[in-house]
Amino acid sequence: MHFDVLTIFPELFASFRTTGVLGKAVESGLVGLEVHDLRDWADNKWRQLDDEPYGGGPGMVIQAPPVIAAVRDLAGRGERPRTVLLTPRGRVLDQALVEELAQGPRLVLVCGRYEGFDERVSEILDPVEVSIGDYILGGGEVAAMVVMEAVARLLPGVVGDPGSVAEDSFSSGLLDHPSYTRPVEVEGRAVPDVLRSGHHDRIARWRLERAVEATVTRRPDLVKDNWRRYPTEVRQLIRRYAPELDPERAQPVRSHRNED
Ligand code: 6GU
Repeated sequence: MHFDVLTIFPELFASFRTTGVLGKAVESGLVGLEVHDLRDWADNKWRQLDDEPYGGGPGMVIQAPPVIAAVRDLAGRGERPRTVLLTPRGRVLDQALVEELAQGPRLVLVCGRYEGFDERVSEILDPVEVSIGDYILGGGEVAAMVVMEAVARLLPGVVGDPGSVAEDSFSSGLLDHPSYTRPVEVEGRAVPDVLRSGHHDRIARWRLERAVEATVTRRPDLVKDNWRRYPTEVRQLIRRYAPELDPERAQPVRSHRNED
């Protein structure tokens, strides 16, 4: 996978591209990551990219021509990329979208600032517009990092232990079970005995129960979205801990009396 980032703050990506799992993937060549200063495509000597909105109002708008020129230049340099525009109006990122973007081979990520892009950027480039959640950031740079980190860890070889990707919360549709390490006791709270018992089947069962328990109490919305993907054993545990979340449960007959 190759990432090209277009931003007015390229320095924000300096430690991102050299640190941790992603840094290793870049170093080893599994992932390519180039960060480009959008101002290099500005058409004036002040390198200004934004201008006042037609019709008035607060803030500034990023002009279309430099963004379009930059994306076209980068597209011409290598494999055919998908263009991702980071914007709060985009499709909200989830693991399904991460998996789509990870199909690759190349993403050009365009980070917005100010009040947004001139609408013709979207009309002409037809990018995938992506948001990372329902809150407003100062710009798309942190969102681009979120997208790249989530995509990169799906690529073969990037995460050392492939099991940790396969067992991820949003792959199984369950939150993770709780984890413990030494010491055995912390401020009077001990590690559950079963985890030190050496009974691997009992440990697996305990972890599954705790994962289901955590999911039904913290994220009942995940149960709704993933029911069809759950194995029988998981469905049975959900019925035990939260019978109301079973979409196959017979619905109580509603009375027709208007007092109800
Ligand atoms: Cl992609 N950009 C900005 N500015 N705010 C956001 C966002 C993106 N995603 C969530 N909030």
